[in-house]
Amino acid sequence: MSHAEDNAGTRRDFLYYATAGAGAVATGAAVWPLVNQMNPSADVQALSSIFVDVSGVEVGTQLTVKWLGKPVFIRRRTPEEIEAARNTDLAALPDPLADNANKPDADASDENRTLDEAGEWLVMMGVCTHLGCVPLGDGAGEFGGWFCPCHGSHYDTSGRIRKGPAPRNLPVPVAAFEDESTIKLG
Ligand code: FES
Repeated sequence: MSHAEDNAGTRRDFLYYATAGAGAVATGAAVWPLVNQMNPSADVQALSSIFVDVSGVEVGTQLTVKWLGKPVFIRRRTPEEIEAARNTDLAALPDPLADNANKPDADASDENRTLDEAGEWLVMMGVCTHLGCVPLGDGAGEFGGWFCPCHGSHYDTSGRIRKGPAPRNLPVPVAAFEDESTIKLG
């Protein structure tokens, strides 16, 4: 392959990923591909709030979007995941706080971490509180939630740290339902 062809291939790949990123974001979709090609600080300044269309998220699946340069997990939990999270003894939790920006100082009960009262929707930063890796989801780890393979941190179905070196629960960012199928971050 010539040098010129090589460059063309790289450019196509880049455009594909930029478009894929835009698909997850509803409002601001026109802005996203542009800022995606700029540096991270411009990204942060331009998108302090984003709106995410969650109408296509099925029960038992997770959508990951990029916000302020970091991944955000939006999971629509199954009844089993909700039950496991809500039936957990708080004394078993290494981090006693909810780590929810919407509820400062609240305890780590699952009710204090979910976006809706029924507990179907859980929104968290996808950043391990140990050294910042992106944990694996879809029932990963010993507690059926998320698992960070970097140094072996296990998070439960509420994103709370249960085992391993991570000191804190996965943080819940400022978030709210804008309407029944749109979540606003920030
Ligand atoms: S960064 Fe996740 S366990 Fe170390």
